[in-house]
Amino acid sequence: MIELVVKTTNSTYPIQIGDDLLFNLDQQIATIPHSDKWTDFLLLSNETVFPLYGETVVQALQKTGKTVHYYLIPDGEQYKTWDMANQVLSFALEKRLSRQTALVALGGGVVGDLAGFVASIYLRGIPFIQIPTTLLAQVDSSVGGKVAVNHELGKNMIGSFYQPEAVFMDVSTLKTLPERELLAGLAEVIKYGIIWDQEFFNFLNQHRTPILAGDLTILGKVLERCCAIKAEVVGIDEREQGLRAILNYGHTVGHALERATKYQRYRHGEAVAIGMVAAALLAEDLQFLATEQTNTIIESLQAWGLPIKLPPIPFEQILEGIAYDKKTRGSNITFILPTEIGKVRIISGITPEAIKTALARMDVDSLSK
Ligand code: NAD
Ligand code: GLY
Repeated sequence: MIELVVKTTNSTYPIQIGDDLLFNLDQQIATIPHSDKWTDFLLLSNETVFPLYGETVVQALQKTGKTVHYYLIPDGEQYKTWDMANQVLSFALEKRLSRQTALVALGGGVVGDLAGFVASIYLRGIPFIQIPTTLLAQVDSSVGGKVAVNHELGKNMIGSFYQPEAVFMDVSTLKTLPERELLAGLAEVIKYGIIWDQEFFNFLNQHRTPILAGDLTILGKVLERCCAIKAEVVGIDEREQGLRAILNYGHTVGHALERATKYQRYRHGEAVAIGMVAAALLAEDLQFLATEQTNTIIESLQAWGLPIKLPPIPFEQILEGIAYDKKTRGSNITFILPTEIGKVRIISGITPEAIKTALARMDVDSLSK
């Protein structure tokens, strides 16, 4: 088992990465400071993940001698809402759960973000534990304390910064993950290489075949490197006052595409892959990034089988989505632009014309997807 530590201004917590962690959760939880004071658990999962891993997790939690309540939400991004959070809060109140109840999130980013948000506001905050089961949740959403629900006007608009007590990631849960979800998670993995670590970017490209085949040993190494990078960035800038924004590479256009296609067409990572292409071309146009490096980024994303073409939607719709980007201030648009593979800069004052020019260089996908 590998253990990393996330250290922010007000909290320090472990990320444990292993291949049989779910069975030994009771022992891992016993190592969390003050967990002996917890009286019970509320396990939050969804209708897909719970049948796969719920029984194992419930049994492991029961070994602590504490009561385990559980609540299942339907599967899908469309349920990451205030309404669903309210249903979980009502359940917690009806069960008279207290500040000594620990909320355990078992699932992908949807479950983790919703559970963390509920934990952050229930009785003004209760402890919570992340057990991410998708690649995307393991390398990104479960670490760093961004928790939120969606609003009809935008994704993740209602939320908090609220760190978990611990993150337990069992790489063997990836065995049941659909291929498309694995690939979508890999977009965020490749992102870490482009923004922070060229050697890791090369490592990924060299190990493409075993990674795509779901080799758990290599995937364990991938989780370790991504989480170490995320822990470092979040440790420096928990509340995204500066550096943390670099984790948003590819997300300015990516989020806008998800929004413009009503969250139906793309998995989050797929939209981010297209957004990374757009940001690389923009960086090249603005002379931050050499053409050869731009081509390497685009060719690599393509070789992984990630989408690199724009959907056939008007530019104005994409621009409207960019206006809702959390980095946008009034009409001042900010992009994370690579300057070489392994390094990015946060650049404000990007004009709509520059974005339009970069997007015009991209191929457009057919309607039929
Ligand atoms: P998801 O939670 O919808 O999971 C994807 C699908 O995989 C779902 O159908 C889920 O039921 C299924 N699944 C999960 N684990 C499985 C397993 N082991 N085996 C089989 N199926 C499994 O999506 P996601 O990609 O994990 O997360 C996306 C969400 O994460 C979005 O809401 C996004 O906004 C959020 N996010 C948050 C952050 C953050 O910092 N908090 C970062 C990135 C993304
Ligand atoms: N997923 C981006 C962040 O955690 O800041």
